[in-house]
Amino acid sequence: MPYPSDEWSKDLKQPGVGIALTGSGSAVPAISLSNDQLSQIVETSDEWIASRTGIRHRRLASSTESLAGLAAQAGERAITMAGLSATDIDLIVLATSTPDDLFGTACLVQAELGASRAVAFDITAACSGFVFGLVTVAQFIRTGAYQNVLLIGADMLSRWVDWGDRRTAVLFGDGAGAVVIQANECDRLLGFELRSDGNQNKYLNLSYQPQEKVLAEQVAIGQGSFQPITMNGQEVYRFAARRVPEVIEKALFRAEITTCDVDWLLLHQANQRILDAVAERLNIPPEKVISNLANYGNTSAASIPLALDEAVREGKIKLGDTLVTSGFGAGLTWGAAVFQWGR
Ligand code: ACO
Repeated sequence: MPYPSDEWSKDLKQPGVGIALTGSGSAVPAISLSNDQLSQIVETSDEWIASRTGIRHRRLASSTESLAGLAAQAGERAITMAGLSATDIDLIVLATSTPDDLFGTACLVQAELGASRAVAFDITAACSGFVFGLVTVAQFIRTGAYQNVLLIGADMLSRWVDWGDRRTAVLFGDGAGAVVIQANECDRLLGFELRSDGNQNKYLNLSYQPQEKVLAEQVAIGQGSFQPITMNGQEVYRFAARRVPEVIEKALFRAEITTCDVDWLLLHQANQRILDAVAERLNIPPEKVISNLANYGNTSAASIPLALDEAVREGKIKLGDTLVTSGFGAGLTWGAAVFQWGR
């Protein structure tokens, strides 16, 4: 069966209303946990973690740090880089799976930033959250609804990791990354492709476990709590190594460019072996692959904008550079977007 996007045409875009990514920012908690320290919590070693994943350290939020606080810090830095102030922002989209408040955390970020004109809401697509958010924001701008948008990816998976499970505890870290996306005459989002497959949800989840609570005769509800992350690592690895190159190729096709035109491959920072395998499949040389997961581990929705912001501030990514980015993870969800940095 064809995917709905197979029917699209480029002509559906509004002429003259494009998007540009004009600022980036990031923030991570101060506390760092090394692989050696982790080996004192679960049976593992620096050698095992580094060789299987490339991760050496991860940042962890303390009990007094909030997701909204970290997201707001990242957001503020992105707004400053874009040369705007918080009151210029019309829309805040927060991609997260680890909210401070299940009703939504974006409004708390809005309040913390003083972005009083902005409408704010959360989206959840796990580690694909940033890419799904980028595409969502692009639709609002392309229709002319909003001009100055703050997109934040922020997660604190340390809240939901089973710290006794060495198969997952070694992988995740906390962080936030943000970009400002503005209406622009020239459209810098060249192409994208998104996918979901709920049939594979069982391979990676953080699910709600209800327990029956009887309120009255014939009236019982399910009241429980969320359970720590469970993952079938091998299935997730197989899924990523196969599906990510595929979705990137589709996004490049939509952008009408090839991998030769790509300056940077910016993947969700899950595992160095996945980054290497995808780059190899796409024939993209290692020097074009952005990687910072050694320092932060897998920060879920934050990983792409966090790596983007570091590369921009280091002067690696320059104005006009072409990036292909891909997020993948729980849902299962995966997607890719091709864009140029700056106006
Ligand atoms: N330390 C030491 N040994 C370990 C550890 C550990 N931390 N974890 C597992 N092992 C052991 C296992 O018990 C197993 O031992 P056994 O052979 O005696 O049974 C052995 O190491 C091999 O285990 P595998 O699970 O086969 O290890 P694998 O090579 O597949 O690596 C890993 C595991 C790193 C998790 C890999 O599968 C992976 O990266 N998968 C993708 C995960 C991922 O990226 N998830 C996030 C997606 S994003 C999101 O949305 C959250």
